[in-house]
Amino acid sequence: MSTTMHQHGGIGESIKRKEDGRFLRGKGNYIDDFVLPGMLHMAILRSPHAHARIKSIDTKAAGVKPGVIAVVTGELMAQHKLAWMPTLSGDTQAVLATDKVRFQGQEVAAVIAETKYQAEDARDAIVVDYEILPAVISPDGAKASGAALIRDDKEGQKDNHIYHWESGNKATTQAAFAKAAKVVRLHTFYPRCHPAPLETCGCVADVNPATGKATIYMTSQAPHAIRTVFALVTGLPEQNIRVVSPDIGGGFGNKVPVYPGYVVATAASLLIGRPVKWIEDRTENLISTGFARDYHMTGDLAVDKDGKMVALRVHLDSDNGAFFSDAQPTKFKAGLFHIVTGSYDIPTAHVTADGYYTNKAPGGVAFRCSFRVTEASYLIERLVTNAAIELGMDQAEFRMKNFIRPEQFPYTSATGWVYDSGDYPKAMNLALEKLGYDDLRKDVEQRRKKGEVTGIGVASFTEVVGAGPGAEFDILGLRMFDSAELRVHPTGKAMLRMGTKSQGQGHETTFAQIVAEELGIPASDVAVEEGDTDTAPYGLGTYASRSTPVAGAATAMVSRKLRDKARKLAGHLLEAAEEDLEWERGKFYVKGSPDRAKTIQEIAFAAYTNLPEGMEAGLEGVHYYDPPNMTYPFGTYAVVVDIDKGTGQVKVKRMVAVDDCGVRINPMIVEGQIHGGLTEGYGIAFMELITFDAEGNCIGSNFLDYLLPTAWETPKFEIGETVTPSPHHPLGAKGVGESATVGSPAAYVNAVIDALSPYGITNIDMPVTSDKVWAALRSKGVTE
Ligand code: CDP
Repeated sequence: MSTTMHQHGGIGESIKRKEDGRFLRGKGNYIDDFVLPGMLHMAILRSPHAHARIKSIDTKAAGVKPGVIAVVTGELMAQHKLAWMPTLSGDTQAVLATDKVRFQGQEVAAVIAETKYQAEDARDAIVVDYEILPAVISPDGAKASGAALIRDDKEGQKDNHIYHWESGNKATTQAAFAKAAKVVRLHTFYPRCHPAPLETCGCVADVNPATGKATIYMTSQAPHAIRTVFALVTGLPEQNIRVVSPDIGGGFGNKVPVYPGYVVATAASLLIGRPVKWIEDRTENLISTGFARDYHMTGDLAVDKDGKMVALRVHLDSDNGAFFSDAQPTKFKAGLFHIVTGSYDIPTAHVTADGYYTNKAPGGVAFRCSFRVTEASYLIERLVTNAAIELGMDQAEFRMKNFIRPEQFPYTSATGWVYDSGDYPKAMNLALEKLGYDDLRKDVEQRRKKGEVTGIGVASFTEVVGAGPGAEFDILGLRMFDSAELRVHPTGKAMLRMGTKSQGQGHETTFAQIVAEELGIPASDVAVEEGDTDTAPYGLGTYASRSTPVAGAATAMVSRKLRDKARKLAGHLLEAAEEDLEWERGKFYVKGSPDRAKTIQEIAFAAYTNLPEGMEAGLEGVHYYDPPNMTYPFGTYAVVVDIDKGTGQVKVKRMVAVDDCGVRINPMIVEGQIHGGLTEGYGIAFMELITFDAEGNCIGSNFLDYLLPTAWETPKFEIGETVTPSPHHPLGAKGVGESATVGSPAAYVNAVIDALSPYGITNIDMPVTSDKVWAALRSKGVTE
C-alpha cells in the first residue's frame, strides 16, 4: 500500500498529484482526443504576407475537392456579422480577412471537410490575389513618417498609434531627478517570445441543430469568460452555450484569448449542423496566436550621493501587432507594468507607455506572468545591477541598501500598489548564503585577473498576482473574482468545482488539500472538477497566478461555511451547545470530553438523514471570492556564469532560487512550478526568439528555429524558501506559478553583464546568444 493512502493531505503536505495517474498512463483527455459522431475537420488558409490588400479569393477549385463540405471566407462570415470580433483589450480583430491581411499567418479562409487531410488539400487549392503593401515591423517603423497605415478599417485611425498611458507622478519625479547625484540609464528590448505550450490550440464545436445548444470543447484557460464573449458576439443565449475545457497540455497565457479558429469552427458547425474539429499545427500556433513581451524599454534611475534610489523614470514602446488584443485588465493599457519600482523603496516614479500597431501577430498575452509584470521586473532588475556596476557598488549590497524594509509593509509604492507583506533581506541573505556569495565574489576577482570571463548576477523580484480586487480589475467589464462550490455527499466524500482551470499546475490535488485542511475530509476523498461551464460556478479562469490567491481563497471560505453548518449538526448529534464544541481537523468534540466526538463523515451522513428541526438538508455551498488586494510573492535569484572568450558561449555554473510565496499548500508542486519557471526563464534569456525580417516574415515558426530548452541545456537549480504569509489571504498563501519566469531572466542576464562589465559592456538584449556575446567582446577588442 502506498504511503500516500494514509496521508490526510492537508496544507503543507507534499502529497503526490492525483491527476498524474491518468497523465502517466496516457489516459488524459485532451482536445484532439475528442471524436464525435459525424465530426468534420477544419483547415485554415493563412496569409503568406505581412501586409497586403486582398483583391480576390477564388474558392471554386477548393469547393469541388473530395470530401469538402464548405469553404468559408470573410465574405460569408460578414453575412452573419462575424467577419470581425472584439478583442480582450476592447479593439476589433478580423476573424477571416475581408479587406486586407495585416500579419503573416492571418486567417483568410477555412475549409470544412470529412477528414483533416481532405480539408488541408482543399485549403491549398484556394487562390487569393494579393496586392502586397509595405510592412511595419517595429514601433519605430510604426511611428516613422510615411509609415503604411495598418488599421485603415478603423474610422478616425490616422496613424499606427494605439494608446498612451501614464502612471506615477511626473512633477515630483522630475524634481527628484534635478537634485540627483547620479542618473543611470538602461535601454533594453524584451523581445517577442511565445508561450509555446506543447499542446497547440484547438476546439471541437458541436451545435445541435435540434436543440440549438452549442457545446464547444476547447483549449481555454478561461471557459466562463469565453462563454460570455461567445454569447455577446454570436447573439446565442448564454444558457445554450456550453464551453468545456478538458485536460490542457500547457497554457502559459497562450490559451486565454479567443482565436478566429474557435469562432469559424463554431459558425461552421452552426451552419452545417455537424460537429467541426479544428486543431492548430505547431507553425500556426507560433505565428498566429498570442505572443508575449515585445517591449522596448528605457529606464532612468536617480540615486543620491549615499547610493539611495531617489526616483525612477520609465518609458516603453509596446509592439502590439495588427490588432490590440492584449489579455489584461481593462484599466491598465500596459498590464501591470507600473509595478516597475519592484522591491525598492523609491519615493517617486513616473511611467509612460505608448502602444503601436505593427504587421505582426496580435496577442500580448501574459506568458507565465501577471500581465506585464515580467517586463517590469526585468527592466528594474537589470537597471539596478547596471547602476551598482556604474556606482562601483556590489549589486547585492546596493539592493540591500534600497529594499523596502520588512517593517514598511503594507507598503504603498510610488505608482500606487499596496504590497501586502515581504521580507526581502531575508530572502536575499538566504540566496547569498546558499551560493556562498562572499567567497565566490573573491574567486571571480581572482579568475578575472587570470583573464577569465566570469560573473555573478542577482535579481530580487517582486511579483503582483491574484487579480482582482474586482473593483480595480476586470476583463471586458467582468470583475476578476473567482469561485468554489463544495458538495459533501452522505458518505463524507466530496466534490469541489471551481471557476479556474488547471493546465498542469495540479489543481485537482492542491484544492482538495485546502478542503482537507479546512473541513477535515482527506484530500483523496475530494474530487476536483473545473472547466465545464454547465457545472462549474462562474469564474475568470487560470492565468496570472490567480488560482491559489483567488480560487484557493474561495475554497477555504466555502469549506469554512460548511464547517459552520457541520458545527450545528454536531451540536444536534452530540446534544451539546455549539459554543461547547471544539474543532479538531476532521471532527467536533465536546470541550473537556474528547471522546464525545462526531467525525465530519458522521456529520455529513446526518446532513441527509438526521437533521435538527428547521434545518435545510444537505452539506453544500458556494463562495465567490473577491480578494481585498493582490498578493506579492517575491524572491532572490542568483546565477554564476563562465563565458568562453573564443566562442561567446555562456555556461551557467550555478543557479540559486529562493522564493517566498507565503504559505505553501503543496511544497512539492511549488518546487515543480519553480523548476518549470526557471527553465522557461533560461529559454527566454538564452534561446527563444520570435523575430521578423524586413518584409514581416516570421522567423521562428517551428521548433528548429524557435529553440526551447531541453534537459541538455538547462542548468541544475538549487532551491530555497522563506515564508512570509499574505495577511489578507485566508490561508496566508500567495501565487507562485510564474514567479520563476518573472524573476529569472534578469538574474541570468545580470550574470552575463557582470562578467562582461570589466570590458565596458553594459547590455546585451535577450536572447543572449553566443554570437551576440562574441560580437560584444570583439567590439571591445577582446580576442581569445
Ligand atoms: O493560477 P495558477 O494555478 O497557474 O498559479 P498559482 O496559484 O500561482 O500556483 C500554481 C500551483 O502551485 C497551484 O495550482 C498550486 O498547486 C501550487 N501552489 C501551492 O501549493 N501553494 C502556494 N502558495 C501557491 C501555489
